[in-house]
Amino acid sequence: MKRRRAFLLISVIIFAIGNLLIGQSTSGVHEEPFGSRDGRSITLYTLTNSHGVEIRAMNYGGIIVSIRVPDRKGQLADIVLGHEKLEGYIPNPPYLGAIVGRYANRIANGKFTLDGKTYTLPQNDGTNTLHGGLKGFDKVVWEGAPLKGKTGVAFSYLSKDGEEGFPGNLKVKVTYTLTDANELVIDYEATTDKATPINISQHSYFNLAGEGNGDILNHEIMINADRFTPVDKNLIPTGELRPVKGTPLDFTTSTRIGARIDDNYDQITLAHGYDHNFVINRKATDKGLVLAARVYEPTSGRTLEVSTDQPAVQFYTGNFLDGSITGKHGHVYKRRYGLCLETQHYPDSPNHPDFPTTILKPGETLKTKTVFKFSAK
Ligand code: GLA
Repeated sequence: MKRRRAFLLISVIIFAIGNLLIGQSTSGVHEEPFGSRDGRSITLYTLTNSHGVEIRAMNYGGIIVSIRVPDRKGQLADIVLGHEKLEGYIPNPPYLGAIVGRYANRIANGKFTLDGKTYTLPQNDGTNTLHGGLKGFDKVVWEGAPLKGKTGVAFSYLSKDGEEGFPGNLKVKVTYTLTDANELVIDYEATTDKATPINISQHSYFNLAGEGNGDILNHEIMINADRFTPVDKNLIPTGELRPVKGTPLDFTTSTRIGARIDDNYDQITLAHGYDHNFVINRKATDKGLVLAARVYEPTSGRTLEVSTDQPAVQFYTGNFLDGSITGKHGHVYKRRYGLCLETQHYPDSPNHPDFPTTILKPGETLKTKTVFKFSAK
């Protein structure tokens, strides 16, 4: 009798431990070593939800390595450009999948003046500073930690005072959360001890037909923007907010991306396609997130919806991809094989006092959110 009891007790304990282990493995976050960089180990975090949607991201550059979502038949495919291994991302000239900052997009002539002081930044894009300089947030090792009670991972980074020329010790946290509604929720948070410009974004290249599966010209896109910030020959905003109406940048109704991408229009010629900052329509009553863009790919039926609380979105059609990068599964990434929807502030805002401010001050906390929602029909 005693033996039987002991046996029962042991069975119960084994069952409980087993459940705990299964609970952990299906809790949604799996961690594995992914090499090392700058003498620090890199971890790959795999987030999985109850529909089998899977997002992998690593703490080098906060790079999203893959996003697997179903098509209209339920077939999963990886819909972001990238590499299978860490080494593939070193270097990563197109910023595939990376967090970009401290200042995403361009700052003219690598200079801005704040509180009477002029700051000089590295010029890594002609005379501009692009995506934070020579070693932006895309090339640093972040501190990674899985979220508790959610399917997500938080990446934290301290960008020191003077790093890439920017003022102030800036503490940044970027969180990726995968929901059961097939959304990737990105939360950005930052504090500083000196006033500094900040503009932080995510630089994933999407191809809803599957990465490496041709160009994105047959994707259809709606961008919820009546105006954009036209640029000069250095891709720096002129200061004008130009209506999209009557231009190839009018995506207020869903249009095939390839329909007007090579039109003879100054802004298209300057950017070699689409590489423009669209001012997201927002009514006075719109608080928080608004729909910025919706992309649909007809063969797979996949749809991506981007919502954000940011004032703008940079729509970039991978015009600079030139076939020199071989990504996952030996796929060669040619011109326009991916599209980016980088939610952000307007480019070069520190030099445009009339643009919404990008200056974060000590005592303030920057909090912004962008949601990528995936579906298929
Ligand atoms: C952003 C820029 C583009 C290009 C890419 C990276 O989207 O606006 O001009 O620099 O990043 O290649």
